[in-house]
Amino acid sequence: MSKKNEIIAEIKNISKNFGVTVALNQVNMQIRRGEICGLIGENGSGKSTVMSILSGMQNATSGEMFYKGKIWKPSNALEAARNGIGIIVQEIGTIPTISVAENIFLGNYDRFRRYGMINRRQMYKAAQLVLEKLNIVGVDASATTDTYSIEQRKLIEIAKVMANNPEILIIDETSTAISETGRQVLYRLMHDMASQNKAVVFISHDLEELMEHCDALNILRDGCLIDHLEKENFVAEDIKEKMIGRKLTGNYYRVDMDGYDSEVVLRADCITTMEDLMCFNLELHKGEILGIGGLSSCGMHTLGKAMFGLTEVIDGQVVLTDGNVVIKNPKSAFQHNMGYISKNRDTESLEINASIGSNIQSTGFEKNKWFGPFISAKKEKKYAQLMVDTLAIKCTGILQPVKALSGGNKQKVVFGKWVGVDADILILDCPTRGVDIGIKSAMYQLIYDMKKKGKSIILISEELPELCGMSDRLIIMKNGKITGEFFRKDGYKNTDLIECMI
Ligand SMILES: Nc1ncnc2c1ncn2[C@@H]1O[C@H](COP(=O)(O)OP(=O)(O)O)[C@@H](O)[C@H]1O
Ligand SMILES: [Mg+2]
Repeated sequence: MSKKNEIIAEIKNISKNFGVTVALNQVNMQIRRGEICGLIGENGSGKSTVMSILSGMQNATSGEMFYKGKIWKPSNALEAARNGIGIIVQEIGTIPTISVAENIFLGNYDRFRRYGMINRRQMYKAAQLVLEKLNIVGVDASATTDTYSIEQRKLIEIAKVMANNPEILIIDETSTAISETGRQVLYRLMHDMASQNKAVVFISHDLEELMEHCDALNILRDGCLIDHLEKENFVAEDIKEKMIGRKLTGNYYRVDMDGYDSEVVLRADCITTMEDLMCFNLELHKGEILGIGGLSSCGMHTLGKAMFGLTEVIDGQVVLTDGNVVIKNPKSAFQHNMGYISKNRDTESLEINASIGSNIQSTGFEKNKWFGPFISAKKEKKYAQLMVDTLAIKCTGILQPVKALSGGNKQKVVFGKWVGVDADILILDCPTRGVDIGIKSAMYQLIYDMKKKGKSIILISEELPELCGMSDRLIIMKNGKITGEFFRKDGYKNTDLIECMI
């Protein structure tokens, strides 16, 4: 019989190199039954890499692993899944064009085969049952996967992994991609696994979340295991310091109470979109950080897109006060010095196969054109390098393809695209999602510096602390409508905000 605290898997002296990048350096880790083990570290510290090796997605350069007392050398993820190691990956791990059920049972279709034919009806039924068991509602197993939002697809992926009955469940920064309801599904699942003497490895950026749910914590920094802590030794400040290798100094959020100009720079005049918004009004002022919060389905993401011309406004209009310009598409928004950072950075904000440099330059390029038909390659390179340095993007150089970067470093590249062009109005949709605390504070500083320069910022976020910490004015939305408006100068309570959200 399996016992609580028994070692189920062990990682011994695992190293992984990608060319000159040392992603992992002699890492040791033990995974125990009945335990939720957290894994934390800054972006690029090697968290995804170490777990992708354990789950068979890639091979280590050196070192060895053990699973249930035997040498463990999976040759692919399917082999690992069949042997009880399941991973919910950081990126989207479902295939968009097939049904939810086909994703859930990917690699296991034989279960539903009779006389050479796959019994789809039976497969849909079984998949629906898996979803139900996990309390995932609103997903139809027979529907095509891409009819669902990123968040729902993450939940489908959880079902896919759970359909294999894993003994070790690895969750790689999934909680940042889903809202509170989804998180509750995830937390319940983690604790259920642990109570059945199975094991969970939980990768997250949210220290509070980790401290609450984990029994132990491994801290990675620059590919090295820095420390292993048991729950009774969790101290937030201590963990942060170990993650970044220095004490965090200065303020995380802004501390001032400075206001903003009364001049309105951008407004939505009774805008209606295909989804979410009906005659919605909004005004953004010069030098204002306007926070917009709510549950992820409240319409705030659509609002951000509509303000930048990315979503069609079927009635009403978005108007730039200066020159009375109507924003109809991203091109006009861009030409009038507006910038936008998408929540779905991989699919909407980055040329994933292109280099870091060319991604950063893609916005600067348009701007530099004004200075003549020729762009100085040297100048461009210098500019890209400056952004890489300013944002401490962890890479081998500006020529490295963006797809090789860790999630948070990708986000920094997106940020670099817009910070550099000096946009007057910036719409940020969850700009710090999946980004570690070190770079988060750097981003907050950049946002604040922009405000101080008289720029105007719309900050859409699912994280209340960030909204409260940064906004001059905070609007809470629910079902496409404004349910509350709060002013920094007046002060307010978190509970007031939450009341407006749900
Ligand atoms: N396929 C790859 N090719 C090149 N470098 C990679 C690849 N995958 C990861 N890396 C590098 O390895 C390091 C660790 O990355 P990763 O494990 O994704 O970090 P984390 O998950 O902690 O953010 C980073 O420097 C990253 O750029
Ligand atoms: Mg990662």
